[in-house]
Amino acid sequence: MTFKLPDLPYDLSALEPHISARTLEFHYGKHHQTYVNNLNNLVKETPMSSLTLENVIQQAAGDASQMGIFNNAAQVWNHSFYWNCMTPNGGGSPEGALKEKIIASFGSVEKFKEKFRQAAISQFGSGWAWLIEENGAVLISKTSNADLPLAHGQKALLTCDVWEHAYYLDYQNRRPDYVTTFLDELVNWDFVASQLSSVSSNSIAHKAL
Ligand code: FE2
Repeated sequence: MTFKLPDLPYDLSALEPHISARTLEFHYGKHHQTYVNNLNNLVKETPMSSLTLENVIQQAAGDASQMGIFNNAAQVWNHSFYWNCMTPNGGGSPEGALKEKIIASFGSVEKFKEKFRQAAISQFGSGWAWLIEENGAVLISKTSNADLPLAHGQKALLTCDVWEHAYYLDYQNRRPDYVTTFLDELVNWDFVASQLSSVSSNSIAHKAL
């Protein structure tokens, strides 16, 4: 059974003017698809091809001989999760239990946004900024390259892709502007809240039928 590229949850132009259709054409249609293709080639005719994407990531994590599999599997997962973290007319503030947890951890939604923004801006080179849940509390982290919370026993709630391919066509080198726009205009707080209440953040289907 092969891994598949999940559908985008919106049209390629749906995030304009904040993220252009051209960026999503490349980022979803080329980069994300390439990670899927690479992963399928790497696990072809091995026991890993029958595992879930999450189990591939967990098996390959920390094993130097499986770094290529880990990197591609994690990037497949990270991008699927990232697309769901955004929505047209997103941004604003979280509500309910999620808002309460964010205020408990950071003092206010605004303070959370500033700390998340700083994490995303200060990630050196390629990587990801995250809001994660651990031991009932929410906290911010950042990871390099393909690394992700699942490899560290943590549950992801929100992520922002800070690889240059995520923003260079629209923002060139202005990563801070991209991250500010992500927070103010794009975050899908309903999706983030749904991850908080789920058993795990591993609910996106990646296997072809
Ligand atoms: Fe990306």
